[in-house]
Amino acid sequence: MPKKVTKAIFPVAGLGTRFLPATKSVPKEIMTLVDRPLIQYAIDEARAAGIKEFIFVTSRGKGALEDYFDHAPQLEQELRKKGKTELLDILKDTNMDSGAIAYIRQHKALGLGHAVWCARRLVGDEPFAVILPDDVIAAEKPCLQQMVEAYAETGGSMVAAMEVPPEKASSYGVLEVSEDMGDLVKVKSMVEKPAPGTAPSNLAVIGRYILSPNVLTNLNRMKSGAGGEIQLTDAIAEEIAQDQAVYGYRFSGQRFDCGSKSGFLQATVSFGLAREELRDDLSAYIRDIVNMEKAAE
Ligand code: UTP
Repeated sequence: MPKKVTKAIFPVAGLGTRFLPATKSVPKEIMTLVDRPLIQYAIDEARAAGIKEFIFVTSRGKGALEDYFDHAPQLEQELRKKGKTELLDILKDTNMDSGAIAYIRQHKALGLGHAVWCARRLVGDEPFAVILPDDVIAAEKPCLQQMVEAYAETGGSMVAAMEVPPEKASSYGVLEVSEDMGDLVKVKSMVEKPAPGTAPSNLAVIGRYILSPNVLTNLNRMKSGAGGEIQLTDAIAEEIAQDQAVYGYRFSGQRFDCGSKSGFLQATVSFGLAREELRDDLSAYIRDIVNMEKAAE
């Protein structure tokens, strides 16, 4: 049986240029869907999957992230004084056990592969998960948990996979499949951001991974790939070349690309509608807008 996955890397060192000027001072991962920052959704998903150690790869200007996971004694004291136990409970989700969280800096944004490599000493010689907080996945069973369960049967390395329209494939890492077993596919090769019309399939890699420590060894070679960046996809593809098994997992759930403005807004609406206390107001407002647009046509 494969070793249990207890460590997760959260690469949060990107520049977040698509959200400038906000990301000049606010880390993208602190931006909120309703009232919870993106990073909270990622942490909750990791916890549900049995992750015990949380490794953040950060960069300059991400201090708000560290504060977010710290205790806030003054605030907590105030809430306690006012008997606001519900709010105190909400805050509990943001506290991490001592020693469970580690921060490491990526000094230059050289790519996702490089960010993951920066955490190599903290990962050591065991399988690990990678979660990209800007891919938010709404699912009955959290996506990483689905993957951890599948991984317990397969071992090897595993990436979350999702069908995308062919014209969008060149924005993703794309899988070439050697065997399709339904939820699970065996990967024959993978290519990061294929040129339009050259993608080997429409099965794209989404930001959840369970990786063999050997991927970190592959990253030692620091080859730059698509966009001149050190790509995680390339280091995983090397596994296949070395006869190691790599799987794609078609997760169930709805994925929002919160790294893009449109995806972030869609997620905001969807997560808002999922909240009982907001649903009626929000859906009435959406209906009004749609009706106004129709009337204007
Ligand atoms: P993105 O490709 O979305 O880049 O990174 P970005 O910098 O965050 O955003 P844009 O494109 O400029 O708007 C995907 C994930 O990989 C991390 C990011 O923080 C994000 O979680 N990343 C990317 C790093 O940690 N380091 C890098 O060098 C590149």
